[in-house]
Amino acid sequence: MSDVMIRPALTTDIEQMFALEQSATSHPWTRSTFESCFGERYFNFVLLEGQQLLGFYIGNFVAGEASLFDICVAPKAQGRGFGRQLLNHFISEAENKGAFDCWLEVRESNLHAIQLYQSAGFHQTAKRANYYPTATGHEDAILMGLPLRFG
Ligand SMILES: CC(C)(COP(=O)(O)OP(=O)(O)OC[C@H]1O[C@@H](n2cnc3c(N)ncnc32)[C@H](O)[C@@H]1OP(=O)(O)O)[C@@H](O)C(=O)NCCC(=O)NCCS
Repeated sequence: MSDVMIRPALTTDIEQMFALEQSATSHPWTRSTFESCFGERYFNFVLLEGQQLLGFYIGNFVAGEASLFDICVAPKAQGRGFGRQLLNHFISEAENKGAFDCWLEVRESNLHAIQLYQSAGFHQTAKRANYYPTATGHEDAILMGLPLRFG
């Protein structure tokens, strides 16, 4: 039986979060970006199966708006529903904080992530042209929002 839990991320998890993201994305964050994302405005959680850290998200909460800065599942653990569990966790934490909306940005080519966000109720609100670097140039960022309640 699998033993999966989601708990708050600690600064001692940064090394594993960094390594996990390196293995899962084409343009990973630097260590110092991870380090800068811990503090009172952040709500960051990791997903563990047994002792193994298999996923995480970085959430930011400012002035009634919750932003998903990063979400990542280890390649070997993708497709098992962990991304959805982490996203649902982010949304309920945002609700608990009294957020009016959730926001995120995603590469236009990241169809799996976009499908996941849409199925959780996010919709496209804007596009930033040529926002992200790629191996051969640039690609657009899709901005997505999820209204939680009216102010
Ligand atoms: C995006 C990501 C977090 C999804 O995590 P995951 O654990 O694989 O996702 P889940 O197993 O929970 O799947 C949730 C939904 O995502 C979509 N999805 C995930 N993998 C998919 C695949 N191989 N093909 C099509 N859709 C897929 C589906 O809509 C799926 O819903 P379903 O199970 O009802 O079909 C993961 O692929 C990842 O870490 N990618 C690299 C980092 C990244 O791109 N993060 C997003 C930055 S904006």
